[in-house]
Amino acid sequence: MPLKVLVLGSGGREHAIAWKISQSEHLERLFCLPGNPGTSAIATNIAASADDFAAVAAAVAENNIDMVVVGPENPLVAGITDYLKSRFPGLMVIGPGAEGARLEGSKEFAKDFMSRHGIPTAAYRSFTKDTVVDAKAFLKTLQPPYVLKADGLAAGKGVVIPDNLQDAYNELDEMFSGKFGEASSKVVIEQFLKGIEVSVFVLTDGHNYLILPEAKDYKRIGDADTGLNTGGMGAVSPVPFAGREFMAKVEERIVKPTIAGLAADGIEYKGFIFIGLMNCGGDPYVIEYNVRMGDPETESVMTRISSDLLEHLEAAAKGHLASEKLQVSDQAAVTVVVVSGGYPGHYVSGYPISGIQEASQGVNVYHMGTKLSDGKVVSSGGRVLAVTANGTGMKAAAAKAYEAVAKIDFNGCYHRSDISKDLEKYL
Ligand code: AMP
Ligand code: GLY
Repeated sequence: MPLKVLVLGSGGREHAIAWKISQSEHLERLFCLPGNPGTSAIATNIAASADDFAAVAAAVAENNIDMVVVGPENPLVAGITDYLKSRFPGLMVIGPGAEGARLEGSKEFAKDFMSRHGIPTAAYRSFTKDTVVDAKAFLKTLQPPYVLKADGLAAGKGVVIPDNLQDAYNELDEMFSGKFGEASSKVVIEQFLKGIEVSVFVLTDGHNYLILPEAKDYKRIGDADTGLNTGGMGAVSPVPFAGREFMAKVEERIVKPTIAGLAADGIEYKGFIFIGLMNCGGDPYVIEYNVRMGDPETESVMTRISSDLLEHLEAAAKGHLASEKLQVSDQAAVTVVVVSGGYPGHYVSGYPISGIQEASQGVNVYHMGTKLSDGKVVSSGGRVLAVTANGTGMKAAAAKAYEAVAKIDFNGCYHRSDISKDLEKYL
């Protein structure tokens, strides 16, 4: 039966997921809540917040929705899946309940999960204000740099990596004094892992899984990974240093025990798991779990899935994922994010954007932070557009992405000019 699908969220990730679902032959009708000007071309946008559970439930009821795909982590951690399932027993929801979402919502929970199930990760201990003396003693036993993580959700900002002991002590004191609010009332301190990061994505029904194309994210604002951390300035898939041998280790040592661990702990989980990994000399270690897809990785990953994503999602929701076959294109994808000048610091929004149409020839331009103002698309966030091109090989894809990016303009717009460059040495 064709499905009526509702995608929750408003960014580039949700635009990319909606774009992929919109091509499914199993789709009857597609809605996004709230969506963005990009999704309005392929779906019906519903004006509400994805954090407003009652509004989401109303949208499900009014539109006879069969499946909800939850994009961002906040509603998942706040329990939207349990909320919707208790109200609409037949509804398919892609995204874990509150218990499974603790893999992202609590660093301590995630670390304990990994240690319980023998999943390779950095050595760690967790502390509260009452054990600050022990925390400092533990820091003393580690080699610099030091990794301090606020336990709870801190909008991607809760990790600090001071490179000397005094800074680590000061940071710890600040975290316990509420630097990240309630999120840092507990702090995980862990061993620093040296290596290169890769994002691995899994779709699971709680027992079976599909490993989606992996991707690399570019977190710093400046070329050559300099400057402040951002939500992500670009992505590349496939990742040349994550070859067959490395990915086989990821599957055996990390994906299988993660899925088995969820089942063993009695956690029902139907949705995506985004595993942030460090490749340390050819061996994978988990840096973090996220209970959703990555942004901007999704904008690359979706263009490389050639089988029907909606069919896979339905199978995940129904527990039939074992019989699904994922097909992946061997074309490479490169995504370049165009941001507002000043981001991730202070920036001004509301500038009209030109060139989206021109840039979109054979290239996907996903909206991340835009809105309509007097019928025109204007910037409305730090990260504004994600431009994804595909090509035979990473270099061709990157050249095509940058050609498209050059056509886009708004007051103060900025993008990194070196997305994928660092990976050329692995080709
Ligand atoms: P997270 O919010 O857990 O993704 O951490 C943010 C960033 O901090 C990661 O993407 C890594 O670049 C870095 N990071 C986190 N944990 C470690 C670690 N144990 N060793 C080295 N880098 C880390
Ligand atoms: N790109 C990293 C994230 O979505 O958390």
